[in-house]
Parts: sequence; C-alpha cells; structure tokens
Amino acid sequence: MTGGTWPASGRGAARPAQASQVTVWDAPTRLYHWVQLALVCGAYYTQWLMGPSVDPTMRWHRWCGYGVLVLLVFRLLWGFAGSPTARFASFIPSPRAVLRYAGQLVSGRAPRFLGHNPVGALMVSALLLLLAAQAFSGLFTADSNGIFGGPFGHFDMMEESPAWKARLQRWHHMGANALLALIAIHVLVNLFYQFVRRDRLVTAMVTGVKPAGDYADHSHVAAQIPARVVTIRAILCLVTALIVVFGGLLLGGGKL
Ligand code: HEM
Ligand code: HEM
Repeated sequence: MTGGTWPASGRGAARPAQASQVTVWDAPTRLYHWVQLALVCGAYYTQWLMGPSVDPTMRWHRWCGYGVLVLLVFRLLWGFAGSPTARFASFIPSPRAVLRYAGQLVSGRAPRFLGHNPVGALMVSALLLLLAAQAFSGLFTADSNGIFGGPFGHFDMMEESPAWKARLQRWHHMGANALLALIAIHVLVNLFYQFVRRDRLVTAMVTGVKPAGDYADHSHVAAQIPARVVTIRAILCLVTALIVVFGGLLLGGGKL
C-alpha cells in the first residue's frame, strides 16, 4: 500500500489514518509500457506513414524494432522478477476464469481487478505474442528492392530459401495490420474502462496507483516489493535483455 489518508470530513472529525490508494504497477512496468508505445509508433511512422522519405536506409525502423525486442525480453523476465501485478503467474487466466468474467461483464456484474482482469490478461498476452512475431519477422525481412532490411534479410538460409524469405516478409506485412487492429481494440477498451466504467486503468498505467477498494485479486497482488529491490532487479533484467538481443544478433552473424 502507498501512504495516504482519508480526507477529514465534518468539523474536527478525526478519522483513523488509512491508505486511500493502492499501488498497482511498479515504475519499470509503466516505463516499459510507454517506451514500447513510442517505439511501436516510431516503427509505423518510419515504414508505414512516411517510408523512404524519412528513413531511406530503414535505419530508424530497424532500431525501433530492436528496441521493441529488448523491451519484450525485459518484459518476459519481469513476468517472473517483477512486482506481483506484473507476474505472469498472477494474471495468466484459466479458460474458466475468462468465461466467468466475460459472463459477468455481459450481465453488468463484473468485479474490479487491481491488475489485469482475466479478459484483459488475454488481450495483453495476444499483444505481447503478436509484437514478438512482428519484431522477429522483421529481422528476416528486406525491402522490396532487396537492398535494405533486417540483419538476417540477406542471410544465406534466406537466399537459398526464397520461399521462406517471401513468407516471413508477408508475415511482417500482415502482422503490421493485425497488430494495428489489436492496438486499436486495446486502446478503445481501456478508454471504455476509464470513462464509462470509471475504473481508471489508464490513469493507473501513468501514476501506478488506484483508489483503495474492493478488488477481486487484491489478496494475491497487493503485496509490494521495496523500491530499491525493484530498481536493482529492473536494471539486471534490462542488462540481460540487452545482452540477449544484441549478443544474439551479433553471434547469429547479423549486421546491425
Ligand atoms: C503501441 C501501442 C500499445 C501497445 C503495443 C500496448 C501494449 C500493452 C501491453 C503489452 C500491456 C500489458 C502491460 C504489462 O502487463 O506489462 C498494456 C497494458 C495497458 N495499456 Fe497498452 N499498449 C499500447 C497503447 C496504449 C495506449 C495508447 C493506452 C492508453 C489509452 C494504453 C493503456 C494501457 C493500460 C491502461 C494498460 C493496463 C491494462 C490493465 O489494467 O489491465 N495502451 N498495453
Ligand atoms: C514491433 C516492431 C515492428 C513493427 C511494428 C514494424 C512495422 C512495420 C510496418 C508497418 C512495415 C510496412 C509494411 C507494409 O508496408 O505493409 C514494415 C516493413 C518492414 N520492416 Fe518492420 N516493424 C517492426 C520491426 C522490424 C524489425 C525489428 C525489422 C528489422 C530489423 C524490420 C524490418 C522491416 C523491413 C525490412 C520492412 C520493409 C519490407 C518491404 O518493404 O517489403 N521491422 N515494418
């Protein structure tokens, strides 16, 4: 729980000190989310909106993609080392939980969750998987002239197997459209929760806190790790992610 008190009401009323807010997302999770948004926008801007006019050698596009890859490996590690709401074990739902929550949503009786609700968790997992497929397929993609592209776009295996090269390129193009559709749904649903259901998910992804209340998952995700431990673990996860991505690209013979 974060510190905080109820505002005093009534003349001279002395209320017991009580936490009015509860921590939801640690700083690394929030930072991860908003940096990822910037990099994904950068990838669409450099390749889709503007193309060769701003990024003729695709250098910026490639670096946005590498950034997304580093963030994804970081998020994978953070799913085991992060605060309770960020851990996969606390939010990957069973099919039963998803169906039950979906039913409750339809009947207007859905409880509030501190972290991802079961349907939100499915959406988040789909986003993470599609982002990973998009960034991974980019590594093996080259532009239509076959001159500029990912570090493995001219890989021997790709040159010897034009069918695979074409397939990965097609996936990268189709993946970009599918990802955009998923992001649009993600944003609309979050805005629906924020403004219609008045469950301030977007505010919480910015500030890291929600008002104290009766949350269905409170008992197993509300415990917090000390800030210093969070910082040290986040730095270790980020350094590991950098080594995995850039070490992997260089060891694989890729040219950044
Ligand atoms: C490129 C665009 C975006 C991508 C790829 C993306 C991806 C993600 C991912 C992967 C998560 C899970 C976070 C985690 O558990 O670590 C998430 C959560 C979240 N995102 Fe986004 N996001 C995008 C844009 C946005 C925007 C524009 C908003 C604001 C309207 C937003 C609001 C949120 C919120 C509120 C959550 C937490 C949902 C919850 O409480 O269950 N996202 N997003
Ligand atoms: C999540 C990360 C990424 C996103 C969202 C993304 C998005 C896109 C988009 C929207 C296009 C244009 C597709 C079209 O015109 O239909 C594209 C093309 C391309 N991307 Fe990415 N990309 C990502 C990662 C990467 C990475 C990591 C690389 C390589 C290092 C890469 C290399 C390429 C190449 C070479 C093309 C040009 C393909 C062509 O002109 O035929 N992308 N990408």
